Amino acid sequence: MTAQPFSLHANCPRHVAIIMDGNGRWATQRGRPRKLGHLQGAEAARKIVRVASEVGLSYLTLFAFSSENWRRPGSEVSELMSLLQRYLGGEHRQELEELGIRLRVIGQRERLPESTLRQIERIEDETAHHKGLSVVIAISYGGRVEIATAARRLAQKVQDGELDPGEINETLLERYLETNAIPDPDLLIRTGGEKRISNFLLWQLAYAEMVFSDCLWPDFDRDAFLAALEEYQMRERRYGALVSTG
Ligand code: IPE
Ligand code: IPE
Ligand code: MG
Repeated sequence: MTAQPFSLHANCPRHVAIIMDGNGRWATQRGRPRKLGHLQGAEAARKIVRVASEVGLSYLTLFAFSSENWRRPGSEVSELMSLLQRYLGGEHRQELEELGIRLRVIGQRERLPESTLRQIERIEDETAHHKGLSVVIAISYGGRVEIATAARRLAQKVQDGELDPGEINETLLERYLETNAIPDPDLLIRTGGEKRISNFLLWQLAYAEMVFSDCLWPDFDRDAFLAALEEYQMRERRYGALVSTG
């Protein structure tokens, strides 16, 4: 595959979020176990991280496992957890180092197996000083529970007499979200053909541009990613205001 030149200009997204969907169907279409689709999906994620770093994005958020994915059969959940652990473990360490990638995880950590949690904490610590692309992996993540948790923490502050309810506004609530200090995604890409958010970054996607691709995630490659970025570059973002025609 030849590397397509990608022109960075003023209209380049700073933060891209991806719902990596379609692993199971990719495998089923080939008469293979879903597990293989997830394995190929992890490989696709590794490649997209590299491209995102090369084109100079600041943030890439990947939806790897939702708070609703716990409803899947136990065997698939365990397979996904061990795959995530491998992904966060030794295998990619060198690549993260080479590209200067900072890795962080958002989601309900308390629901994760102890070993996965330890692996997450280790990789976050080890890459915290990196200055390149920030890769945010959403694991056991749900947008609604994130907002509800922020509301609960704010309510606690009020009860403790540390906060006046009148001080609660969008800026303050945002500080209590897990994505605190990360700018909102400019572009959301969902692969796999479905056109829905599936409880991903509900607050943060308020004004994101959306690109839906029929491509199943394991097939999503450099060219497909660059095509989505180019589509973004042609969009006109208005944030409810009017665009000046002068
Ligand atoms: C996305 O692929 C990965 C996760 C949700 C963990 P799916 O497993 O949802 O694949 P499909 O949608 O069944 O094809
Ligand atoms: C969304 O995909 C979650 C991830 C990609 C991690 P799902 O396959 O779980 O979403 P639904 O069930 O089709 O909405
Ligand atoms: Mg799916």
